[in-house]
Amino acid sequence: MRTEIIKLDASDPDEEVLKRAGELIRKGELVAFPTETVYGLGGDALNPEAAKKIYSAKGRPSDNPLIVHIEEMEALESIAAEIPEAAVRAAGAFWPGPLTMIFKKTAKVPCETSGGLDTVAVRMPLHKAAAGLIRFAGGYIAAPSANASGRPSPTSAAHVIEDLQGRIPMILDGGDADIGLESTIVDFTEEIPVILRPGFINIEMLEEVLGEVRLDPGLIDAEANRGVRPKAPGMRYRHYAPKAPLFVVEGEEAAVISRIISLAGEAAAPGKRVGIIASESSAVLYAEKLEGMRPVITALGSRNEDLTVARKLFGALRDFDREEVDVIYSESFDTPHLGMAIMNRLLKAAGHQVITA
Ligand code: TXA
Ligand code: MG
Repeated sequence: MRTEIIKLDASDPDEEVLKRAGELIRKGELVAFPTETVYGLGGDALNPEAAKKIYSAKGRPSDNPLIVHIEEMEALESIAAEIPEAAVRAAGAFWPGPLTMIFKKTAKVPCETSGGLDTVAVRMPLHKAAAGLIRFAGGYIAAPSANASGRPSPTSAAHVIEDLQGRIPMILDGGDADIGLESTIVDFTEEIPVILRPGFINIEMLEEVLGEVRLDPGLIDAEANRGVRPKAPGMRYRHYAPKAPLFVVEGEEAAVISRIISLAGEAAAPGKRVGIIASESSAVLYAEKLEGMRPVITALGSRNEDLTVARKLFGALRDFDREEVDVIYSESFDTPHLGMAIMNRLLKAAGHQVITA
């Protein structure tokens, strides 16, 4: 299949392009499109055949439900069987934006879209191109992240091209994603809302609007809760993992830096190519101390600006595959706002291999 790639101005997307893309989706075809979190692979959420195409293009297990993207509140009423008052408040505070809410579904949502569950995940994205596309596509777009299953979510059109070129008819290129991590998922089918996947909308922001909020036990400490399955099916799968083994080094900053330097030295001695994920300030240190070993050092940004770290993380994981490193060591990023979301992705990519410095 030939894949048409069309550039869009994220702040003022061309309506004609969105209309054409929307028509493709109405016809049951797939279009990859930018959102403020990551790129999505969109199909008509009310068409079971489109859902099947999505699973097959991604190579994704079909029991992993898709998020339905909407553009106006009325759309929610026709796909959610019950909309609790807390969800209305959350929508008021965070929609359109990087928040996905889980509801009991109506019969309008085919079980191909909901992965066989009786619930549906719904998000109203903020990105102008995404909102326009949803409108022209008829109001309901099912979209997982537009990566091949198991790879990091795409934060640029280049990532989508890498994974899906030739498998879908159209990719809309809206530049780099603003947030770079997938939306926060909150389950509103429980008495007290439960966070199933951490994201830009963090627990403090949710508590401010909702009062008590819980964390899915499968999330809290994947190591300690080995037996607890995360409630979001997609959180159970191996994800994001680069080809080389990745280790996250935790501890006090100075100790982490010196531990990574010694680990990198040990690995490089027999000729291994080492990758390092660092903050902006320590990247320079590694370059100095490990000069001559040709490590691949990726500076994600400063811990004070954790949005930069979030934006760069998935791209960095993809870059290590291209650089063909043999082992990767990463600093940890327990920052106040995005730390939980960043560490959730990073630890998953590392298969929870943690070294304490
Ligand atoms: O930011 C995002 O959410 C992006 C953009 C494109 O909107 N989408 C995204 O979709 O990350 P995906 O399919 O990669 O991740 C959706 C997650 C999966 O872990 C899935 O299992 C979970 O949401 N999920 C979907 N429907 C669910 C449901 N009814 N109950 C529990 N988890 C659900
Ligand atoms: Mg995904």
